[in-house]
Amino acid sequence: MRHSLIAGNWKMNASLAANEAWIKGFVQASKTQGIEFEGGPQIMLCVPAPYWLQMSELIRKSSLPIVVGAQNVNEHDKGAFTGEVSVPMMAEMNLRSVILGHSERRQWFGETDELISQKVVKVLSSNLTPIVCVGESLSDREGLKTFEVIKHQVDALLSKIEPSDLERLVVAYEPIWAIGTGLTATPEQAQEVHAFIRQELLAKGPLGYKTRILYGGSMNPSNARALLSMTDIDGGLIGGASLVPEDFLKIVSSAIA
Ligand code: 13P
Repeated sequence: MRHSLIAGNWKMNASLAANEAWIKGFVQASKTQGIEFEGGPQIMLCVPAPYWLQMSELIRKSSLPIVVGAQNVNEHDKGAFTGEVSVPMMAEMNLRSVILGHSERRQWFGETDELISQKVVKVLSSNLTPIVCVGESLSDREGLKTFEVIKHQVDALLSKIEPSDLERLVVAYEPIWAIGTGLTATPEQAQEVHAFIRQELLAKGPLGYKTRILYGGSMNPSNARALLSMTDIDGGLIGGASLVPEDFLKIVSSAIA
């Protein structure tokens, strides 16, 4: 049985005051909605680097079962890489996870499969969990190239890791056309791609059964339950809706059986 994971990706959205209000809102909503976190999904918030410590401290003080993650990392440990942040720095800040190869990084920062694989290998050499994003564009989907594109991205990643790494790896299927658009893949569309990714993982090794595959792309309180009920959808990577604590909590509660 795979432990489901509900991860918020705040992207470049946060401030000291907004973060404090988010935690207050989440605590309040969990009381109002009567949520029992025990036995529920793992909950994670991937927040901008300047707020890692503040968020960890706010979470600790409110005794919430939430871990903090990052949204990108450099593939080197240290050195002359102005503006970059490394895995050892994240480990020292007690981060648990890092998103890699998000389509926004592929699109705006020119990240290639090769670079993303290097980052994954670096993260796997630490105690952090890599959440590796893959996904097709609208023209890929319309041109019936979804599986070709996903296979290329997943195989590029799998060619660089060991079969024993599959247990710790998390893959996020994020169709680009569904990100921030309000368009969501139907549960069946998402499951079809997740099942395909599962096959690729299993071809690498039997521990592919343990790899969690998250869905991301306009997941919200209304569509979360149907998506999360699919066999190979092991959680969600949530952008916009994770900025609203009440909505994020509703998605969390959709993952509680
Ligand atoms: P939205 O949930 O805003 O569509 O963003 C998804 C995403 O990119 C998460 O990484």
